[in-house]
Amino acid sequence: MTAEPKSMLREDALKDHVIVVTGGGTGLGRSMAKCFLRLGASVVITSRKQEVLDKAAADLAAETGGAVLAVACDVRKYLEVEQLVQRCVERFGKVDALVNNAAGNFISPTERLSSKAFEVIIDIVLMGSVNCTLAFGKHWIAKGETNKAVLNITTTYAWTGSGYVVPSACAKAGVLAMTRSLAVEWAKYGIRSNAIAPGPFPTKGAWDRLLPGELMERFSLAKRVPLQRMGEHHELADLAAYLVSPFSGYVNGEVVTIDGGEWLKGAGQFSQLEAVEPAMWDAIESMVRGVKGS
Ligand code: HXC
Ligand code: NAP
Repeated sequence: MTAEPKSMLREDALKDHVIVVTGGGTGLGRSMAKCFLRLGASVVITSRKQEVLDKAAADLAAETGGAVLAVACDVRKYLEVEQLVQRCVERFGKVDALVNNAAGNFISPTERLSSKAFEVIIDIVLMGSVNCTLAFGKHWIAKGETNKAVLNITTTYAWTGSGYVVPSACAKAGVLAMTRSLAVEWAKYGIRSNAIAPGPFPTKGAWDRLLPGELMERFSLAKRVPLQRMGEHHELADLAAYLVSPFSGYVNGEVVTIDGGEWLKGAGQFSQLEAVEPAMWDAIESMVRGVKGS
């Protein structure tokens, strides 16, 4: 087994920090939580399934020696989110950063969706991020606490849009708008607001819902990426650690894309010329050079 790479940040970079990660029991949330713990933070992980959280918390504590609190909370329910704030404060006395990572998503032609199907994604992704940001933000503002960070996990299709995941695209676009809006409005309270837009990072939650069965073979996401590979969890976790840490104290309202160049390749009109055989370029060049004065 290959050893996990060390973080780019030094081991005490997040010492005395308390960081809440929604959806922190699985996938990228779990990987971020682990990275924060290794950098000295205490972490609260939350999602709907207490048994998943308890197992993740026990494993993370064993792997890192850090303090992990596992709190079941449906981010769609504001009362549960308020209770989450209380649980965090009771246990750790304060919270320094909130990572809005919890999400729901699945592929479907939009005309096959019921209104309820659309709503469930908007509720988890947009309202979940709104509820957590509002509850933690109100708490910080009421207490007069400063040097706080909100980090939202969006996607690159938050600004390009994407067919077949339209509820998710709408919801993530809303999260992006909230990120930029509150970066300005809440800066006066000492609350920074930033986002990460990941490209493809393999996780069970995403892959089972976005590339089920033979779709995985037919639509290789790695082939769409100029760097020709998927992201590695530690690459995203390091970026998240930087953005919740005081080292990024002057970064506010930013969305950092980490996708190996994927969305730009899709956007560039001529990027499909990648498919041209290298040997054909001499002939193409002479055709183009041959066009004179027409
Ligand atoms: C059409 C569907 C559907 C599907 C559910 N529905 N799945 N419609 N196609 N595949 C409909 C249901 O019929 C119902 O509508 C409504 O959606 C709510 O479904 P429930 O199963 O009752 O909802 P719930 O139990 O709350 O589950 C939410 C969920 C589920 C989103 C559907 O997948 C989930 O729990 N996901 C959490 C984790 C997750 O999704 N992770 C992936 C994140 S990846 P009706 O009308 O019948 O009542 C990600 C990556 C982005 O965001 C970019 C990648 C590159
Ligand atoms: P994941 O493992 O499925 O993570 C989603 C998490 O959200 C789960 O832990 C889930 O736990 C939790 N969750 C869902 N509904 C919730 C609710 N109502 N309340 C509280 N928690 C809820 O998938 P992932 O790939 O790691 O995704 C993490 C984040 O990265 C998401 O924001 C996703 O959009 C983003 N992202 C991922 C990729 C990728 O390639 N993987 C690309 C772009 C963006 P429960 O179901 O137990 O509640």
